Amino acid sequence: MKNSMQTAALALLMAAVATSVAIHSIDATQITIFNECAHNISVCQTCCGGGTVTCYALEMGNGRHSIDVGASWPGGVIWGYPGNKADPVDGNEAKPQADLAEFTIGSGNLDFYDISNVNGFNLPLMITVTTIVSPGKESGLECGNPKCGSININSFCQSPNKITGGPGDGCYNVDGPTATSPTNGTEAFANACPDAFSYSTDFANHVYFCQTGSEYSVVFCPIPFRLNTLE
Ligand SMILES: *[C@@H]1O[C@H](CO)[C@@H](O)[C@H](O)[C@H]1NC(C)=O
Ligand SMILES: *[C@@H]1O[C@H](CO)[C@@H](O)[C@H](O)[C@H]1NC(C)=O
Repeated sequence: MKNSMQTAALALLMAAVATSVAIHSIDATQITIFNECAHNISVCQTCCGGGTVTCYALEMGNGRHSIDVGASWPGGVIWGYPGNKADPVDGNEAKPQADLAEFTIGSGNLDFYDISNVNGFNLPLMITVTTIVSPGKESGLECGNPKCGSININSFCQSPNKITGGPGDGCYNVDGPTATSPTNGTEAFANACPDAFSYSTDFANHVYFCQTGSEYSVVFCPIPFRLNTLE
């Protein structure tokens, strides 16, 4: 009697361990970043509203780098800037001059992601879901692939928006961070990149989601969209 109870308890414990191991391995989300630009870029990442900034250089053409963000990556942000320096100080300075790939990985059973032009735009960007785990399927905002194609910054960047200069070499969306409804400055961004946030409360139709355990890529200067641009 005692032995069979111990055996049953052990079996339950082993099942619990096996389950937690399986869940853990599913939840270790990988994001792969590609540089399809015709120039070298540096890509930076941070998370959790003010964590350490980490940067890496990605060579033009086919540079890539995979990051494992673990089971939970709340407020993860990825952005790029031109050149090989991969310096976190420059990266931090480039962030408010850049369009951002934003992720919240592992919120309940869902991941959320979007492209933000709230601060500005500097490099074309696309987020794709490379592996969709069940029961997800690609449909609109569910497991969709938002993109912001290339913009000729010099002709696009009209008042009130402003050219940033280095290190981001982008266009500031001057009203974006404070506006709670569109202005003509934020509308210029919305028209150029309808998939992306153009001001801080621009949630409608811009928040994508997919089941946790899916895998993502962030592509700078995505080649399939180079021809389909405003330039
Ligand atoms: C791009 O990066 C590669 C690898 O680091 C380097 O060899 C090359 O000189 C860089 N090109 C330019 C134009 O900086
Ligand atoms: C915003 O409106 C002002 C005043 O009408 C105009 O000068 C400016 O070019 C507009 N900017 C954009 C980005 O459309």
